[in-house]
Amino acid sequence: MSLPGLDRRAVLGSALALSACGPKAASQPAPVNAPPLKTVAPFPVGTCVQAINLDDPAWTAIALDQVGQLTPEWQMKMEYIVQPDGSFRFDAPDRLAAFCQSHGLGLLGHTLIWYAQVPDAFAKLDEGRISFEQAYINYILAVAGRYRGKVVGWDVVNEPVAEDGEGWRDSLWSQRLGDFEHIALAYRTARQADPDAALLLNDYNLEYNPRKRATFLKLAERLLASGAPLTGLGTQMHVAADIPRGQITAMMRDLASLGLPVHVSELDVSIVRAKGWMTSRADLERRQLETYVETAEAFMALPARQRWAFTLWGLRDNQSWLKRENAADTPNLFDGQDRAKPALAALAKVFAG
Ligand code: G3I
Repeated sequence: MSLPGLDRRAVLGSALALSACGPKAASQPAPVNAPPLKTVAPFPVGTCVQAINLDDPAWTAIALDQVGQLTPEWQMKMEYIVQPDGSFRFDAPDRLAAFCQSHGLGLLGHTLIWYAQVPDAFAKLDEGRISFEQAYINYILAVAGRYRGKVVGWDVVNEPVAEDGEGWRDSLWSQRLGDFEHIALAYRTARQADPDAALLLNDYNLEYNPRKRATFLKLAERLLASGAPLTGLGTQMHVAADIPRGQITAMMRDLASLGLPVHVSELDVSIVRAKGWMTSRADLERRQLETYVETAEAFMALPARQRWAFTLWGLRDNQSWLKRENAADTPNLFDGQDRAKPALAALAKVFAG
């Protein structure tokens, strides 16, 4: 919701006018005057999307104004695509792909293989009919093949590292196909299905847990050494507003150390996950802005060829997945009335360099 042509005087004027008409008006935040993120960022800016959002003019207005790339929030995952009878449904992801095509937006496929999603169709596979490995390969070929040329990349494997950072996730995939082999096979198969898509490895808490980060980087190195076509690293960045200064910068520097492109893939900055959020909300909103700024500055400090994209896991507070966890959370750049927050202007300023 950028307001072209609204000069500073007008902004300030309205703030003064606001203060003149009593406490209710005074509590109204001053309108934020900022260029759309996609117009100032020297790399793609993205957000997550659900098919239902495409029917919401308020969502499309903000999204088409601010971003040039979309990541399906859940409808390109096995939970949506794999049916109980083992067939695949593509109505929603086809719609998202068509929307991106018609608006000149990039689309990042998210995600082919995830420890957290193992449909019954795989768990109860009739291996007399088809081997587990072949079913795994067929899924990747079918999904990545279908969107060949329609996606800029894939989060091929999501969240491969164990929560405590000690080793890799245990899942049916690792149990049946090997803890490293199932990952390497996923990259080789995705490349077979789509010769051009970026193939990313994506995980979270890499800014909070240095051991997890080290294990993530070791896995990436091992994939590269094995010849698996890994082409980039995704850091989700679901962080809290009170994250200590410097942790994000240290993470970004480490992630860039392999020379691979880096994707800030699911950024949101929670208020209610921060300690003492009930007592110092105003302070935490300031910290929230500073956390967005540190993330942007750390990303901008990367060599241009390693700045793959910068994705926000939602633009509007009222659509955040975190609301399911706590309705009082306000992690995104547009508030409950779809008004841009100062953090948006701060991000735009950093991206503009
Ligand atoms: O919309 C349907 C609704 O029609 C249906 O009645 C209901 C009950 O089945 O499901 C609703 O869909 C839910 C969807 O979110 C939309 O709200 C799915 O069940 C639910 O599984 C899905 O959750 C998503 C979750 O990943 C699991 O896929 C969240 O939106 C999404 O924000 C979250 O994103 C993950 C990233 O992929 C990976 N990193 C962490 C991040 C947050 O958990």
